[in-house]
Amino acid sequence: MNITVNGQTRDLSPAPGTVLAAVLRERFGATSVKLACERGECGACTVLVAGRPRLACVTPVELVDGEVTTAEGLAEESADLRAAFADLGAFQCGFCTPGQVVNATALLRAGLPADAERARAKARAHMSGNICRCTGYAAIIEAVCATGRARAEAGEETR
Ligand code: FES
Ligand code: FES
Repeated sequence: MNITVNGQTRDLSPAPGTVLAAVLRERFGATSVKLACERGECGACTVLVAGRPRLACVTPVELVDGEVTTAEGLAEESADLRAAFADLGAFQCGFCTPGQVVNATALLRAGLPADAERARAKARAHMSGNICRCTGYAAIIEAVCATGRARAEAGEETR
């Protein structure tokens, strides 16, 4: 089968039952894809498949039906989001951060409501599957919302 990851296509013959996370880490060197619970409960392994968040630890690679993007492939797009994480203290050990950034990227592409309370509520709901044992969640939600606000303002200025 062919699989495209961060713009790179490879022909693979995975053993039956191989999960996407293993292929990403071992064949594509995408070590931002973290394995923690390995049963679809923590979000550490979140990647985008055809632009939609997927949990790579429970996704059989033979069922992947679109281009895969990991945090490595979002380096440029997520620069402002990652800066907001750093500025607002939204990580400590950083283990959950790539999955948080990938999932938040999908949300930010869709856009957040202009109203701050509604934006926070939407971000909380969208990010609820990304577990962080270090930070509590307030700073993560604030970093996502601040990035959404900044992008909306920048978009308005260029209109
Ligand atoms: S490692 Fe995939 S959801 Fe936890
Ligand atoms: S920063 Fe350590 S688990 Fe989230």
